[in-house]
Amino acid sequence: MPTKVEEVASPAPARTEPLRILVADDQADVREALRLLLKAEGFSTEIVSHPTAALEAVQTGEFDVMLMDLNYQRDTTSGREGMDLLSRIQAVDSKLPVVVMTAWGSVELAVEAMRRGARDFIQKPWDNPRLLTIIRTQADLHRMRRRAERLEAENNLLRAQNRPIFIAESKVMQPLITMISRIGPSGANVLITGEHGTGKEVVAQTLHALSPRTGRPMITVNTGGLPEGTFESELFGHVKGAFTDARADRVGRFELADRGTLFLDEIANVPLKQQAKLLRVLETGEMERVGSSKTTKVDVRVLSATNADLKLECAEGRFRSDLLFRLNTVEMHIPPLRERKEDIPLLAEHFLKLYSQRYRKPIRGFEAAAIDRMLDHPWPGNVRELDHSIERSILITTEEQIQAGDLGLEADKASSAKIEDMSLEEVEFLLIKKALTRHTGNISHAAEALGLSRSALYRRMQKYGL
Ligand SMILES: Nc1ncnc2c1ncn2[C@@H]1O[C@H](COP(=O)(O)OP(=O)(O)OP(=O)(O)O)[C@@H](O)[C@H]1O
Ligand SMILES: [Mg+2]
Repeated sequence: MPTKVEEVASPAPARTEPLRILVADDQADVREALRLLLKAEGFSTEIVSHPTAALEAVQTGEFDVMLMDLNYQRDTTSGREGMDLLSRIQAVDSKLPVVVMTAWGSVELAVEAMRRGARDFIQKPWDNPRLLTIIRTQADLHRMRRRAERLEAENNLLRAQNRPIFIAESKVMQPLITMISRIGPSGANVLITGEHGTGKEVVAQTLHALSPRTGRPMITVNTGGLPEGTFESELFGHVKGAFTDARADRVGRFELADRGTLFLDEIANVPLKQQAKLLRVLETGEMERVGSSKTTKVDVRVLSATNADLKLECAEGRFRSDLLFRLNTVEMHIPPLRERKEDIPLLAEHFLKLYSQRYRKPIRGFEAAAIDRMLDHPWPGNVRELDHSIERSILITTEEQIQAGDLGLEADKASSAKIEDMSLEEVEFLLIKKALTRHTGNISHAAEALGLSRSALYRRMQKYGL
């Protein structure tokens, strides 16, 4: 079954659809007045009272115009919080016209906001006809621009033959699907979070495929897996003679990803010292190859992924919060498979088709008990575990349909076997599986419980297909 992304992304709303206005203001009376005014005009509105809610609304909803107050409670006069919100909104959706509202007499603030990309401003108390004219003008322009952009995105979709298949039909996944189709075409940096095997890389590939950068490559770096000492040279390249082994010039991943996308996987594992280097290129787009003093400019969209809790890593001083701020312009969380069981049969069908073709075994689906077994299983290794389990079943089954027993999911069978009858590998497999279940797929916690480093556990999980 194909992805739903293009369905969400498709038809441009007709001009007859009511204009959708997002309003952010922390004063209840202002919100109420605007609500009544906009409703009377037949507009559809979403009204929020603080910056976080506004940002969330922009990430998940579609609007024609945003009307935004510049002053919020934390500090009511400088407009800094509002200015901050303006930048974040633009990072998510640079096309959304933002009209700022300022208090009477604070024209400088309005000018500053316009300089930073607001399309217009209005002073409070406002004049209703003027406000409505501004909204209509901006909305019309926006709809025209967006229609052109949609056409381009659709063309990109058609061209992107190698677009990954992303299956997600469950209710829990719908907000994520909407976000992917909205944010994909933008240039926003996205931090993708989720347990091991939930599909973070597939989401990154989908975002890249939906963007105008799709004609250029997406370069992946497993930042967690880079041997010590090679980080800088891998990312930024080096010049001949920069160090003993540097026998020739080498292009780094940032330069390879120029005008394309860079996918930084396992980002939480980047040591603090290297985080500073990453921050600089993300802030300025400038970097130097190791051993060179020539500064190069790169234009790279950065997608990153982790199964760690980066806010916690920041709080504990292991991750720089200024770097997190650069990476998570938008954050996308992928729920674990056990929270979206409706997707299991679809995914299972998909892998069945894939592997029965690859191994040339014409298998006709699953017996009912096999589906039940899959629905009951907690899938600590998420979609990857399902993928491996189906591949294994196809290889071993002797029936026309996959049987429950083929899936190799009887965790209890292994645990009831006597330890002294098991091989060392079987015991290791069992312990790792148990630790992952106990820590609901959180690799850092499971690794700690097993007395292993994250990467050592990671290697073993790959070995056992977990
Ligand atoms: N929604 C999905 N639809 C189809 N295939 C999926 C989906 N999610 C994951 N997969 C498949 O499951 C496997 C694991 O996905 P992926 O590598 O993207 O996970 P991950 O979150 O990056 O895992 P890790 O944390 O181990 O890096 C891949 O083979 C991928 O193709
Ligand atoms: Mg991955």
